[in-house]
Amino acid sequence: MKTGGTWLGLLMGQGLLASRTRHFSSEWINMMDFTKLKILVCLVGLSCASFWFSYMNLTKLCIFCEKNQNFLLPTQTFRRIQGSFLQLPDIDCHKNPPFLVLLVASSYQHSNARMAIRQTWGKERMVASKRLVTYFLLGTTVNLTQQADITDESQKYKDIIQKDFIDTYYNLTLKTMMGIEWIHKFCNQSSFVMKTDTDVFVNVFYLTELLLRKNRTTRFFTGFLKLHEYPIRDRGSKWYVSIEEYPGKTYPPFCSGTGYVLSTDVASQIYNVSESILFIKLEDVFIGLCLDKLNIQLEELHSEQTFFPEKITFSVSRFKKIVMCHKVKPSEQLSYWNHLVTEEHRGVL
Ligand SMILES: *[C@@H]1O[C@H](CO)[C@@H](O)[C@H](O)[C@H]1NC(C)=O
Ligand SMILES: *[C@@H]1O[C@H](CO)[C@@H](O)[C@H](O)[C@H]1NC(C)=O
Ligand SMILES: *[C@@H]1O[C@H](CO)[C@@H](O)[C@H](O)[C@H]1NC(C)=O
Ligand SMILES: *[C@@H]1O[C@H](CO)[C@@H](O)[C@H](O)[C@H]1NC(C)=O
Ligand SMILES: *[C@@H]1O[C@H](CO)[C@@H](O)[C@H](O)[C@H]1NC(C)=O
Repeated sequence: MKTGGTWLGLLMGQGLLASRTRHFSSEWINMMDFTKLKILVCLVGLSCASFWFSYMNLTKLCIFCEKNQNFLLPTQTFRRIQGSFLQLPDIDCHKNPPFLVLLVASSYQHSNARMAIRQTWGKERMVASKRLVTYFLLGTTVNLTQQADITDESQKYKDIIQKDFIDTYYNLTLKTMMGIEWIHKFCNQSSFVMKTDTDVFVNVFYLTELLLRKNRTTRFFTGFLKLHEYPIRDRGSKWYVSIEEYPGKTYPPFCSGTGYVLSTDVASQIYNVSESILFIKLEDVFIGLCLDKLNIQLEELHSEQTFFPEKITFSVSRFKKIVMCHKVKPSEQLSYWNHLVTEEHRGVL
């Protein structure tokens, strides 16, 4: 650092002068001739000038950073993660296409939640003669031990979809679009896709029943509808979006990212249109922008509310009639599921 060097030089210069002063204190007045004074003034002057210049340079650099954020972001459209998939699930959708693929956004830390989901609603099963499969969407971690753990987990359970991008909250749009890409390239024979999270409970029985009852196979998109949302401009918020990132006053209609369901043709169309859409780190809003461009309307799955983006209190009778709810711990996944399935075996569900 320039500034550091300058300060060091200044201190050393002063130290030198100070020691000279001590050593030759008696002769100081005599030696304090015009040349010495000139050297002192030059030293101090140079240090000040050099400090001033490096300060100016730093300031200029910072102004440049700001400009970068302000003027480059709005022109950035979404870019897919290039390259092949690092991990793929074990399925051949040509041979035995599933009816519904549940894609769960997850990350390294949530291995307990993944285990709970594998043992409960995420286990591969037939519901009303329809095949349901669940896969996890993961990015990469910079820690190689963790990366190796993910590879081991993938080889063991064969239910992980992974590409090479750093797994952070602000990369959630990349994660969702990786799932959409996987559907488009590997499983467009499926009928429906649900995107959800690791802390969500899904009643796959009721979801399947409602999808069959609805009987919509194309251009269908549902979830917890958000029709009149607007960007949060408070910098402290987790959902803060700058005017530069999204200049609009309102968002297009979208569904809460905690859980939404689409017919598979919509996934392919989102994949197709995505690279012409401005990037926004809020993945559910991004999907809303794609749907807006595709002119696909959101629809309710049922006249009653069935998607709950918040925590709700468990009871068997209530959970029999919901599709999903949020903020569920791994231990709760197990207990909710066990209660629900016990009822089902009694023939109530
Ligand atoms: C990498 O991850 C492992 C497992 O979580 C942890 O024990 C280790 O300390 C991490 N290493 C670094 C350098 O953070
Ligand atoms: C998102 O992932 C990309 C690709 O790995 C990485 O370069 C970038 O830093 C990540 N962004 C954030 C905000 O973490
Ligand atoms: C899957 O995608 C391929 C290639 O885009 C297309 O030809 C085919 O019709 C699609 N299949 C279904 C079931 O949509
Ligand atoms: C489902 O919709 C199709 C037309 O899209 C119709 O032919 C069929 O009868 C419907 N099935 C049921 C069970 O409503
Ligand atoms: C993808 O988009 C292009 C135009 O951008 C369109 O011509 C093409 O039909 C689209 N393909 C699919 C499968 O929707």
